[in-house]
Amino acid sequence: MSTEKQKTVLVVLAPYSDAVRDLLAVQGKRDDLEILAYHTRTLLLELDTTRSYSVQTRTLEEGRWPYTRFDINNRLAAILGEWGAPLDVQHPEQILSVTLTPTEAFLGLSLARENLSDWAGGERRFKREPNQISRAEFKLLEALETFDLQLPTTGVALDMGAAPGGWTRLLSERGLRVIAVDPAELDPRAESHPNVTHIRTTVENYLPTRETFDVILNDMRMDARDSARVMLMAAQYLKPKGFGIMTLKLPEKGMGDVARAALRILGSGYSVLGARQLFHNRDEVTVALGG
Ligand SMILES: C[S@@+](CC[C@H](N)C(=O)[O-])C[C@H]1O[C@@H](n2cnc3c(N)ncnc32)[C@H](O)[C@@H]1O
Repeated sequence: MSTEKQKTVLVVLAPYSDAVRDLLAVQGKRDDLEILAYHTRTLLLELDTTRSYSVQTRTLEEGRWPYTRFDINNRLAAILGEWGAPLDVQHPEQILSVTLTPTEAFLGLSLARENLSDWAGGERRFKREPNQISRAEFKLLEALETFDLQLPTTGVALDMGAAPGGWTRLLSERGLRVIAVDPAELDPRAESHPNVTHIRTTVENYLPTRETFDVILNDMRMDARDSARVMLMAAQYLKPKGFGIMTLKLPEKGMGDVARAALRILGSGYSVLGARQLFHNRDEVTVALGG
């Protein structure tokens, strides 16, 4: 990964932590552990020995390393431990974060409460459910957890861009009645659920409606700004205590500008509760919205 790309990930779309301080060259060899150990020692003055700590390592991209993440964690934790801080893997107050690509390592020490995710490198994994329809389901689960939002178990949800039906399945199985709007086919498991009404058209055709919604979701594959405008059209149908979650699909070039423009549009009709690139997002960010 180039430095420029990494900067983009950290600054515009930081998924987990702004702790990164050092960028090191590594070679995918056993010596890498020595390089990481050396740089860990340079961070020791920043360590608060009265607070507990842990080391979290994430590997990015496919790579083969002659050591495991646990080797790194153990080696670096031992160095920090020599200074007397107590190790607490479950609830550390300070975290030494290591992110590794085949050629580069990113290293930084931060307070856990300042990190954007409790998971090593933001790597949040969910167990696959047997009747899961799409990987998109993980995005919704992660968004609900990240933004601390609870799906109601009764009421009505609007799912815009619903096909093949992962989000619709999650909503309907939790007891919500779901209006799933998408010109494309829904998976039969979502289509046949008694709580689901599939409106087989575009959202632009579906709105206006007489319904009001407890939850409005939007995972439509379209330009982020257009998608934000459609979401804005839907704002008037959100019940007072309802919330919205949407993904903004971002282009490779100018992603920051497009994201900011889309957020400005959304801000004119919703309160923006949060906007983050989540672990399960690729070229998109997830936005949580209140009425
Ligand atoms: C990434 S998929 C959604 C996945 C879905 N959230 C799930 O959990 O399975 C994007 C969907 O947006 C739909 N879409 C794109 N433009 C749309 C529009 N104007 N109105 C409704 N749906 C649209 C596409 O047909 C496609 O099915």
